[in-house]
Amino acid sequence: MADIRTVLVCGGAGYIGSHMVRCLAERGLKPIVLDDLSSGHPEAVQGHPLIRASLMDPPALEAAFAAHKVDAVMHFAGKILVGESVNEPALYYENNVTGTMNLLAAMRKADVRRFVFSSTAAVYGMPREERITEDHPLLPVNPYGFTKLHVEHILADYATAYGLHSVCLRYFNASGAHPDGSLGESHSPETHLIPNMLLAILGKAPALKIFGDDYETPDGTCVRDYVHVQDLVSAHLLALQTLQDPGPAASRPYNLGNGQGFSVREVLDAARAVTGKQVPHSMAPRRAGDPPRLVADSRKAAAQLGWKPEYPELERILESAWRWHCQQRY
Ligand code: UFG
Repeated sequence: MADIRTVLVCGGAGYIGSHMVRCLAERGLKPIVLDDLSSGHPEAVQGHPLIRASLMDPPALEAAFAAHKVDAVMHFAGKILVGESVNEPALYYENNVTGTMNLLAAMRKADVRRFVFSSTAAVYGMPREERITEDHPLLPVNPYGFTKLHVEHILADYATAYGLHSVCLRYFNASGAHPDGSLGESHSPETHLIPNMLLAILGKAPALKIFGDDYETPDGTCVRDYVHVQDLVSAHLLALQTLQDPGPAASRPYNLGNGQGFSVREVLDAARAVTGKQVPHSMAPRRAGDPPRLVADSRKAAAQLGWKPEYPELERILESAWRWHCQQRY
C-alpha cells in the first residue's frame, strides 16, 4: 500500500476497531485512534496514538485531521444495539448519522477521500433469500438498521458529488477474539449470544436466556452467520487496498459472513463441546426485532476483494472467544 500510511480508526478502542488497529500496525501502517471511550477501552488501543473525541464534536474532528496527515479513515464508532435503537432512536440517528456526517465534513475539509464504513446485515430487514446477496431489498426493521442504511446512501451521494471513495462492509454476526487472547469482546451491557453464553458458563453472567424456540427454523431457534473478528479485519485491509487505486469514485457494499447458519441451540452445543462445560440456560420469549434467519452470500467480497475467511469454523470462533473470556483483560 504505497501511499496509504496513516489510517484514522474511529472507534479503535472498541471490539472490532481494536483488532483492526493491531492488524494495521502489524502491517507497518500507522493507526491513529479516535474514540470517545463511551464504550471502548483504553487498554484495547495498545499504546497507539489515541485522540479522545466524540463524533459529535466537529472542532475536535477538524483538529484531529489538522494534527495528523491522514490517508484513509475507518469508521467503527457506531451505536450497535438493535433494542436500544427502538427505544432511543434519537441517540442512534445523532451518533450514527449526524456523527458520521460530522466526520465526513472534517474529511472533506482535510481533503481525505478514502473511507471504510462498518455497515451491517441489519440493512436488509426480513430476509427473502436463503443466503442474502447485496442485491437483496434494503428494508431495515429497526432504527439501527436505518441509521446504517442512511449512511450508505450518504456515501453513494458523496462519491458522485465530492469524489469520496468508500467501501461499506455489511457484517453478519461478528464474533471471536484475537488468537493470542490479548484482545476480545467486552460490552457493557453485553447482549450478544456468544459472550453471554461463555460468561454464563464462567458464572460471570446469569444463565443464558434463549430468546424464542418457535421460529420457523429446523430447531425453532434463530439462525445466524457467525464471522470471526479477524476475518472482518482482513476484509477491511483488502478494502483499503482497493481504495489505494480506486478508479472513478464510488461507494461499494460487500457482505461479510461465512455463508453457513447456526441456530442458537447449535451454538450452545458447540460451546459445550469447546469448553467441556454445560451452558446454564432457560427459555425466554422472542426478542423484538430478531429475524429468524440471517445468512450471508459473500461471493462478491471473495470475487472483488479477494476475501477468504481464515477462521470460518464455529469451533475456532468459540475457542478464541473462550480463551479471551477465561482471562478477560478489560
Ligand atoms: N440470543 C439469545 N440470548 C442472548 C443473546 C442472543 O437467545 O442472550 C439470540 C438472539 O435472539 C439471536 C441470536 O442469539 O437469535 C444472535 O443474537 P446476537 O445478539 O448475538 O446478535 P444479533 O443477530 O441480534 O445482532 C448482530 C449484531 C447487530 C447486527 C446484526 C445483524 O449485534 O449489530 O447482527 O445481523 F445488526
